[in-house]
Amino acid sequence: MISIPADGVRLRDFRREDLAQYKSLRSDPKFQRFYSEEDSATNKAEELLAMFITQSDEIPRSKYQLAVVSPSGELMGSCGIRIESPRHASIGCELGRQWQGAGAARDAGNALIEFGFVELGLHRIYAETISENKAAIKLCHAFGMKIESERVNDRFFKGRMWNTIVLSISENEWHARKKSA
Ligand SMILES: CC(C)(COP(=O)(O)OP(=O)(O)OC[C@H]1O[C@@H](n2cnc3c(N)ncnc32)[C@H](O)[C@@H]1OP(=O)(O)O)[C@@H](O)C(=O)NCCC(=O)NCCS
Repeated sequence: MISIPADGVRLRDFRREDLAQYKSLRSDPKFQRFYSEEDSATNKAEELLAMFITQSDEIPRSKYQLAVVSPSGELMGSCGIRIESPRHASIGCELGRQWQGAGAARDAGNALIEFGFVELGLHRIYAETISENKAAIKLCHAFGMKIESERVNDRFFKGRMWNTIVLSISENEWHARKKSA
């Protein structure tokens, strides 16, 4: 079982008992603003949770979608790092609305990025998000990521096309940033 301390919050593997809280935080309409109908469906939380638990049992493990937990043990959301090809991984974060705006996503993501470069030996970590998801883009910039590319009209949901942005940070950039901090 993984457990990573992150400045005031903790990252740990998901458990079946997290389902009610995970379902509840994902059901908020504003939380779902940039999610497709499929990703916002009521059974999606159940499906994702089962997948995260299965991934945590895989050997060798390549996907670490972890629960972000408050000091009192409440489920705040999830933050994950997924190895997509050798030494390259994607990262993604989602927090329940009452937990947003307090730096928890930044702390959880920074801890996970450190885990990725130090423990997993990654060379590049990237995030892909809808171009209008300003909070997600701002969060990636706070991790030291830079915009790599933008794809125009490459997603379709909620009756319209959406652009997506890829941001990334390399191992060297991350080390340089740590040194200068
Ligand atoms: C992405 C997410 C984890 C970021 O969490 P957070 O860092 O706590 O986010 P906040 O809502 O506080 O927003 C972060 C920053 O973006 C800014 N922001 C939020 N919405 C904005 C908007 N529509 N336009 C401009 N700036 C915006 C906030 O003001 C904040 O800036 P600050 O740090 O200077 O105050 C959170 O928004 C979330 O869980 N969203 C729902 C799920 C999701 O879309 N995840 C991303 C999938 S790729």
